Amino acid sequence: MIIRPARNVRGELKVPGDKSISHRSIMFGSIAKGRTEITGFLESADCLSTISCFRKMGVEITRGSDGTVTVYGRGLRGLKAPSEVLDCGNSGTTTRLISGILAAQDFETTLTGDESIRKRPMRRIIEPLSLMGADITSVLGNDCSPLRICGRPLHGIEYTTKVASAQVKSAILLAGLYADGPTSVTEPDLSRNHTELMGRYFGADITSSGTTATVRPAAELYGRKVEVAGDISSAIYFITAALLLPGSEVLIRGVGVNPTRFGSVKVLREMGADITLLNESGEGDPQADLLVRSSGLKGVTIGGSVIPAMIDELPTVALAACFAEGTTVIKDAAELRVKESDRIALMVKNLRAMGADVEETTDGMIVHGGKPLHGARIDTQKDHRIAMTFAVAALLAEGETELADGDCVNISYPEFYQDLDRLTIR
Ligand code: S3P
Repeated sequence: MIIRPARNVRGELKVPGDKSISHRSIMFGSIAKGRTEITGFLESADCLSTISCFRKMGVEITRGSDGTVTVYGRGLRGLKAPSEVLDCGNSGTTTRLISGILAAQDFETTLTGDESIRKRPMRRIIEPLSLMGADITSVLGNDCSPLRICGRPLHGIEYTTKVASAQVKSAILLAGLYADGPTSVTEPDLSRNHTELMGRYFGADITSSGTTATVRPAAELYGRKVEVAGDISSAIYFITAALLLPGSEVLIRGVGVNPTRFGSVKVLREMGADITLLNESGEGDPQADLLVRSSGLKGVTIGGSVIPAMIDELPTVALAACFAEGTTVIKDAAELRVKESDRIALMVKNLRAMGADVEETTDGMIVHGGKPLHGARIDTQKDHRIAMTFAVAALLAEGETELADGDCVNISYPEFYQDLDRLTIR
């Protein structure tokens, strides 16, 4: 994939549906009773992995010509033993969340995935699910996928996580639906709360207080209509391009603005970004249109409780920091090292290849803004967010940029290059 510099980006856009919410809509829909109709579902490789896993467990899931996805739920205890291994592809969300459900079934399953997923840490779910009574093991004994899960009756636990992770929290809460008493999870900082919101919407007894979420055993959940908001993690590429390319103005319609996901906009505004929220609507997971205009940015320190609320957007905000006046420090973000790639190491390597002044730290990076970027060959390691971040960097650089394995954007945003092209003025 070759990308050339741009003059600016202008126009209107609707980004695809939120990946986290799309996964959860299939999962809750599958274990609920009755029909769940999902509009705005994200048809990307990751979410299709979730659909494929539940189909293999006997759930009928169909797609209408207008993109509406219908899940014919089988009820809390209605999943069937799959006859083959469940392939979660590249998806950490599929692997970790589904493990919570599988831990309570009366059958055995094996989960696997691609090269990246088979390197990601699974001890973080193996430990709490085992404490609940689950029989879950890493087949190769390396605390990674493939995982073998033999369903067992589960007990409620009170668990404190070491890291703020919605995937870990959600695995425990989903298992807790099947436990013999209340289960609570306390995290160091609040991670995205889509599981709590959607669980409640489907009829589960889930309460939240501070960074603790508590679920009580459920008798049954009931299928609902779900409208998936646009993904802020996909909007961030257009927000950043519009902020940094002079003379840009972009209106992004229907973006999810749940505060547990909105850290990037909060931080960019602190840096001086002109981002206006229009037409806010929706309960549960609220949405708004975002109007973004080019802005001069200033360096800031980014750390603490805002990190989980912008974890997937941090690489793109680091790119923005290269164009800010002064220094930006990103800290408390060691979790970036265990995403689809080591996003700290890979961001620093690629930003440096383009001429940026960046230092790697154990839990983040230090970006000295103001050095112009030039085109380079970018190593994406098939990480979709790295590819999209550097597609934006390429618009801002002098000369051509080449993205290796640029088609990895299919993981979360199959139409990314077409949308970017449509808004770009050269
Ligand atoms: C997700 C949670 C985050 C995020 C991932 C999606 C989710 O991961 O990085 O892209 O849908 O719950 P962690 O929970 O591991 O931080």
